Amino acid sequence: MQVSEIHPIDGGGAIEVSLEGRPRRFHALWLRDNAPDAETRSPGNGQRLITVLDIPAATRIASAQLSGDGLVVRFEPEGKTVTYDLGWLTAHAYDRAMARQVGWTGPEIVRWDCGLQSQVPSVSFAEVSGSRKALGRWLAAVRRFGFAVMTETPTGSGSLCQVAELFGFVRETNYGRFFDVRAEVNPNNLAYTNLGLQAHTDNPYRDPVPTLQILACLENSVEGGDSIVVDGFKVVERLQQENRRGFDLLNRHCARFEYAGSKGVRLRAKRPLIELGPDGELIAIRFNNRSAAAFTDIPYDDMAGYYAAYRRLAELIEDKTMEVTFKLRPGELFIVDNTRVLHARKSFSGSGKRWLQGCYADKDGLLSTLAAIEEEEGVSL
Ligand code: FE2
Repeated sequence: MQVSEIHPIDGGGAIEVSLEGRPRRFHALWLRDNAPDAETRSPGNGQRLITVLDIPAATRIASAQLSGDGLVVRFEPEGKTVTYDLGWLTAHAYDRAMARQVGWTGPEIVRWDCGLQSQVPSVSFAEVSGSRKALGRWLAAVRRFGFAVMTETPTGSGSLCQVAELFGFVRETNYGRFFDVRAEVNPNNLAYTNLGLQAHTDNPYRDPVPTLQILACLENSVEGGDSIVVDGFKVVERLQQENRRGFDLLNRHCARFEYAGSKGVRLRAKRPLIELGPDGELIAIRFNNRSAAAFTDIPYDDMAGYYAAYRRLAELIEDKTMEVTFKLRPGELFIVDNTRVLHARKSFSGSGKRWLQGCYADKDGLLSTLAAIEEEEGVSL
């Protein structure tokens, strides 16, 4: 770690430090808020012990110097001295170019199309149950591609919940802890027929939406019924490139979704088809023809353009060059990031049996377990 120069700037309101040859500025208030000492951060759990109101608004850097331990800063008017690890400062430097395009995603996300067909991420249940690192690699595939397959899983009813429990918790809903997906007479949901299903994200009528879905195969002796996955983030990228106005209409206006197929259930949500963060990060896609309600939040003058973009989005989702397909055999399942990857089903014939079970879980648990494994193993997966 090279630190050559330290300059107070802004009358002590900030400091400029050269870290690894690059000048980095840090505000006095930011440094004080992020002090690592035991009065500011609990040594036990790392949680902050002060509020922003405990920091004097007039906080200034009175002095700053290097010692063997790091950068030593004295703050006034508190008269408090804090030492910062230089590696930590380098990793958390915010004074850097942020030339991000609208629709950006982090480096951990890799968008894909049908080219991924030959490299579908897949692992066996025994492998991930017996090795934290193997589990980490599987979870990292979900983080990277938004889906992954698992083979040789237990085929008992409800066993798919064990897969969610490898990394987190099942999200129980009005459909239960898990639910059956098979042909039924008088189904309360079109998923329970032998019709093909357009690629979709699940349950956009919930807020918050379940961020992961697991679909497990218990029996599959029908003709057809293949599973299809489509990277919604790649689809959005294509729409953005060819029709920027349409992309903007879909992210600036909210759609509405509703599920009212069961007695006593009226689930409703108002959210955009393409969700961006305030800094332009692509956060989520919601797309489900079955549960889209009447859109009533788009101005009259924008509605025609909105529908044109919605149609184009649907065309791109149905474009064969965007699909990865596989046919699940008994004991196989796949997991999808339901905020990103759409799933579809080809129609199947009435002879034979197709019995899948689904359950929901959430990405926070998956990413937490993955981060913990990466820390344990000292590797980035
Ligand atoms: Fe679905």
